[in-house]
Amino acid sequence: MEGVYVSAHPLIRHKLTVLRDVTTPPIKFRQVVREISMLLCYEATQDLVLKGKHVDTPLAPYNGDELADRMGLVPILRAGLGMVDGVLEMVPEAEVWHIGLYRDEETLRPVEYYNKLPEESHVQICFILDPMLATGGSATATAQIVKDWGAGRIKFLGVIAAPEGIAAMREAHPDIDLHVAAIDDRLNDVGFIVPGLGDAGDRQFGTG
Ligand code: PRP
Repeated sequence: MEGVYVSAHPLIRHKLTVLRDVTTPPIKFRQVVREISMLLCYEATQDLVLKGKHVDTPLAPYNGDELADRMGLVPILRAGLGMVDGVLEMVPEAEVWHIGLYRDEETLRPVEYYNKLPEESHVQICFILDPMLATGGSATATAQIVKDWGAGRIKFLGVIAAPEGIAAMREAHPDIDLHVAAIDDRLNDVGFIVPGLGDAGDRQFGTG
């Protein structure tokens, strides 16, 4: 599907199975979310824009490159927090702004409770981070918040998506590329991704 990138990388497939395993404890779960985020970031940054940079090596002058794009990371609280460090290891200059949304258990609609975006955007590309794309309510709402704020290009990085979440994002924000480790079978009747990995927030933070 256009604009949807599901990683086929063996490292990601291996690590994703660790996350799915119900016996994986929070300390390991957090570590693997961080590692998968790093790998997804590597794949999602292939088209970043470069500009020339001159340096002197110990032996000779050299015309090299540096990133031209300033990047912002927008983790969706809570579960998106666990993806931040992995992406920052790849792009340490990125700025991080938090958006807090929780999913109403009855309606499954997102409820905003925190927004730390500065008044004006001064980045060229934003990565929205959330391990789970279920109904897509949280991601579509966050994408709209970030667009209204004036971000340039936006990409979504997630670990597991449901077909419903992919469809919702493609319909609401067809300009946003989606980078995920897997697209699972379906949502169950309480909005959980199946087979999935459970609740990514609870599994990272030892709650629930
Ligand atoms: C989960 C998950 C996503 C959202 C996905 O968060 O981390 O943010 O649900 O569902 P959706 O695509 O149907 O919106 P949750 O509301 O459980 O909050 P938490 O991250 O604080 O646990």
